[in-house]
Amino acid sequence: MDFSPSVGNSRPWRVLQVESHDARARIADNFEDCNARAAASYDSDARRDYLALKLAGLREAPIHIAVFTDEGVEEGRELGRKTMPETLAYSTVMAMHTLWLAARAENIGVGWVSILDPATVAAILGTPRTWSLTGYLCLGYAEEDAETPLLHKTGWQSDTSTDWQIV
Ligand SMILES: Cc1cc2nc3c(=O)[nH]c(=O)nc-3n(C[C@H](O)[C@H](O)[C@H](O)COP(=O)(O)O)c2cc1C
Repeated sequence: MDFSPSVGNSRPWRVLQVESHDARARIADNFEDCNARAAASYDSDARRDYLALKLAGLREAPIHIAVFTDEGVEEGRELGRKTMPETLAYSTVMAMHTLWLAARAENIGVGWVSILDPATVAAILGTPRTWSLTGYLCLGYAEEDAETPLLHKTGWQSDTSTDWQIV
């Protein structure tokens, strides 16, 4: 990940491979709480459809990686991010994507779990105050390979393509 591009070469990503059984179990519990709250925000039919989706593999995945952005990073001396401070977190996402592509090239599946409360995850992992959670990744060999995204297969959304426009 260190070779990934970052704003002002700040390399703000802080990566924790979570192996503690206790931490992993508490993070999986937090997913279940957040997921139940998200489900409750939908009307009854949509709630049933939502609850039928598999939205995390936290209890199955062998590898858990919590990726934080150090908002207090001094490297780079704020070069490039005075007008767009969000580029710090974007840099972390670039590094996550670099890891993602490398994993996929080895046929390792990657899932990003965003249905988590970032403050709870930070408290479970005891991270410094300046670190904010950018993403929580699960890695492992997938049980199956599918061409059709789950959300299309289940009818949660229709298959519309995103636009590339020439202006
Ligand atoms: C920012 C971001 C957040 C995501 N959050 C979730 C999530 O909370 N739960 C989920 O099931 N998928 C989530 N995804 C999608 C999965 O990571 C993705 O579907 C999974 O990695 C399988 O990859 P595939 O769709 O290429 O097979 C997220 C993706 C991104 C980029």
